Amino acid sequence: MRYAVLADIHANRHALDAVLQAVRTDGVDGYLVAGDLVGYGAFPNECVERIAALEAACVAGNHDLIVLGQLTDERCIPLAKTSLAWTRNVLTDDARSYLEGLPRSIDTGPVVIAHGSLDDPQEYTRTPAQAVDQLARLEREHPQARILVVGHTHRPWACDTAGREPDRGRALTLAEERLLLNPGAVGQSRELRVRARYLLLDLDQGSAEFKAVRYDTRACRAALVARGLSPRSTHLRPTLRGALRRGRRALSGG
Ligand SMILES: [Fe+2]
Repeated sequence: MRYAVLADIHANRHALDAVLQAVRTDGVDGYLVAGDLVGYGAFPNECVERIAALEAACVAGNHDLIVLGQLTDERCIPLAKTSLAWTRNVLTDDARSYLEGLPRSIDTGPVVIAHGSLDDPQEYTRTPAQAVDQLARLEREHPQARILVVGHTHRPWACDTAGREPDRGRALTLAEERLLLNPGAVGQSRELRVRARYLLLDLDQGSAEFKAVRYDTRACRAALVARGLSPRSTHLRPTLRGALRRGRRALSGG
């Protein structure tokens, strides 16, 4: 099976369409989606419609659950709170019922998908120690699974059971040991460059490849402004210091 792995679409139709266009060229058998279809962006209904049409294996993210009233927005930044309140008002019945049907995790056999961590859609899994812990839990609770897919941090990342972080600039070869993969965000970049990010996971060839595609950010920001939403929603730029720190860690292999 060859999958396109998506996360954190955040109602960004322009970014999602660019990814789906690229994936058509890649050629895949199915889609895995690690949640946060809505929130921040201007097109919640359109994005839910597209993911539903793909018949993706999709879990609920914290933003999806907040819109449904199943989580509170108390941990959200003001930008997220404003957009979630707007989203709640414009969400169609069809989109709402699709979101209501999403589980918090999915076990496909070789791959388990969750939003933040296996325990909690609001938890950020971002350190090697956390990844090692999650992979140990994966082994206990899903012994047949080799891959744990999470999103939520909006940052593409791979980490193995020894806490090693393989270079995401190259296609990864899947080994016997378990691996945590985060495809990065489709719809809200938290990297220095604005791109729509996703991952190609080929279980037959044993490879995972991080992808980043350009999209029409100008049109995306104009749509946000037209709805009274913040154009910042497309890009929460990291501090230069944070970006350098993560870059150094990746170069040193952990
Ligand atoms: Fe998110």
